[in-house]
Amino acid sequence: MNQPVTPSRDTSTAQAFSTSWNNLPGGSVYTAAQFADWMAPLGPDDLRGRRVLELGCGNASLMVHAAGWKPARLVGVDLGDSVRSARVNMQRSTVDWEVLQGDLVEFESEGFDVAYCIGVLHHLKRPQAGFDAVVRNTRPGGRFHCWVYAREGNGVVRLIVEPVRRIACHLPWWVTKYLVATPLVVPYFIYAKVLAGLTGGGSSGLARWLRALPLFDYSMWIARRDFAFFRHVAFDQLVTPQTAYVSRGEVDAWLRSNPAVALDSTYVIFRNGNSWKFGGRVVGG
Ligand SMILES: C[S@@+](CC[C@H](N)C(=O)[O-])C[C@H]1O[C@@H](n2cnc3c(N)ncnc32)[C@H](O)[C@@H]1O
Repeated sequence: MNQPVTPSRDTSTAQAFSTSWNNLPGGSVYTAAQFADWMAPLGPDDLRGRRVLELGCGNASLMVHAAGWKPARLVGVDLGDSVRSARVNMQRSTVDWEVLQGDLVEFESEGFDVAYCIGVLHHLKRPQAGFDAVVRNTRPGGRFHCWVYAREGNGVVRLIVEPVRRIACHLPWWVTKYLVATPLVVPYFIYAKVLAGLTGGGSSGLARWLRALPLFDYSMWIARRDFAFFRHVAFDQLVTPQTAYVSRGEVDAWLRSNPAVALDSTYVIFRNGNSWKFGGRVVGG
């Protein structure tokens, strides 16, 4: 799956993301705690000694932490030129790793013990085909795990961010990052930090009253990070030409309609009030 890369219906999306990933300082943009939260209910024991695949790996910000859970082999796939920064970020890793460039929807393998896909399916032209690729690349009896933006809980984002994204994704990346995302995220940064300060990170009695405010749970999560992370997330949302917001009904339909999914093993978790984590096992094994 290395060069030349066959053009895909997601090429412009992947190239837009590469302007985000390839213009960051080295290393992961996430903390180890963020990685663990994204992966739960999977934990270190589920990856240790296993063959693990990430579909849509960006600059390997998640792979860097996955490597810390000591898999036997760790493979990342991304369609964009972010594979360059992904390889640099993985360079110092001591696990057996590989980063491949190609379309995850077409990706074929013998099947991994664990396949995960975080923050990607909602950016594909065909999200369900991406989900089917995650399942197809999980061995019989192996585990798959995905995370997508939810339709539920994202009303404000769909109302305010989406119209801006439709214009901003056509601008040069640096205009979007520094002249659109940066000023746009300042009021949200203040909102999240003030909310977190007032509610002790969501744990005080006052939190019960303020919970009804837009993006409350998500704000408690992101308020642990600095302004640079807020801006990265805002830029990531604005740079892409393709975003979908996935309903619980759609997640359930994807799980139900793939015959390789062992239905009694599945889980769907509402995360931070505005996204879905879901996964399970592949039949057999
Ligand atoms: C929001 S980023 C998420 C990256 C990483 N999973 C993370 O959470 O940090 C979405 C990634 O999906 C990649 N992508 C989009 N369409 C793709 C496709 N068809 N095949 C492979 N990668 C794709 C983009 O290039 C981008 O790096």
